Amino acid sequence: MAYSIDLSGKVAIITGAARGIGAATAELLTKAGAQVVIDDLAPEETVQPLLDRLAQLGPRPWYLTEDISKEESARRMVDRTLEKFGRVDILVNNAGVVAGWEKSLEVHVMGVYYCSEAVREHMAARGSGRIVNLTSTCVHSGGTGIPQYVASKGGTYALTRYLARTYAPLGILVNGVMPAVVMSDMIMTRYKSEQEMLEHYIPMMPIRRIGYPEDIAGVILFLCSELSSFLVGEIIVADGGRMHVGI
Ligand SMILES: NC(=O)c1ccc[n+]([C@@H]2O[C@H](COP(=O)([O-])OP(=O)(O)OC[C@H]3O[C@@H](n4cnc5c(N)ncnc54)[C@H](O)[C@@H]3O)[C@@H](O)[C@H]2O)c1
Repeated sequence: MAYSIDLSGKVAIITGAARGIGAATAELLTKAGAQVVIDDLAPEETVQPLLDRLAQLGPRPWYLTEDISKEESARRMVDRTLEKFGRVDILVNNAGVVAGWEKSLEVHVMGVYYCSEAVREHMAARGSGRIVNLTSTCVHSGGTGIPQYVASKGGTYALTRYLARTYAPLGILVNGVMPAVVMSDMIMTRYKSEQEMLEHYIPMMPIRRIGYPEDIAGVILFLCSELSSFLVGEIIVADGGRMHVGI
């Protein structure tokens, strides 16, 4: 029998999932049977096509528009999910911004902490839960040319280790992913065209292609599954080999 990842019966909150890596993750987790809760700031009507498409693949995702950079909204996102579905098994802290100092720290550091703290008590009471945080290889390389992004993603990295250490004894496994060179609206803020982006990156990529949101969603699914039950505080580089063996 072929192996498959089955998340049916599980409830997963994915922040910043109206598009990009978050939306691809919502799709993969829905296909794996999870009840997904998508949180983003985008107006609901713009997300409707995504929700309708995912409803064809598994449980219909629920959409919330809480701003995760505010402690009370992060808590409301979790409380509303618990009221509706009675449980939260998975939290993917994916929301991200290219912004000034304050907003970058609020989303990438404080927001990750607020959302994680908001699920902690519930997950701890059940003795199980998964949290996956999205950081970036720029934490090691110093790349992107955006100090606010690099430093705040460094905060996500360190916080992932802190949360992994403090939550593991409660049965909550916290890990992270460090993507890079993944086609999305966010990365395109740094290039004039797709062509310019591809010409910049492909020569440096050992696999001679850039990444797509699905490439990262697969790693996140792994970190939400029983296959990764011995990983704690691990932050997986997912960049097509650029950082370790790129040119
Ligand atoms: N694309 C890449 O190459 C790359 C590389 C490294 C890391 N990442 C990280 O992966 C994650 C997803 O990136 P992406 O490229 O899909 O970005 P994206 O910009 O396409 O998506 C990010 C989403 O987060 C949402 N968001 C921002 N602030 C929010 C808030 N306060 N509350 C709720 N939602 C909020 C945005 O509305 C947006 O829909 C981000 O954390 C990003 O930093 C991406």
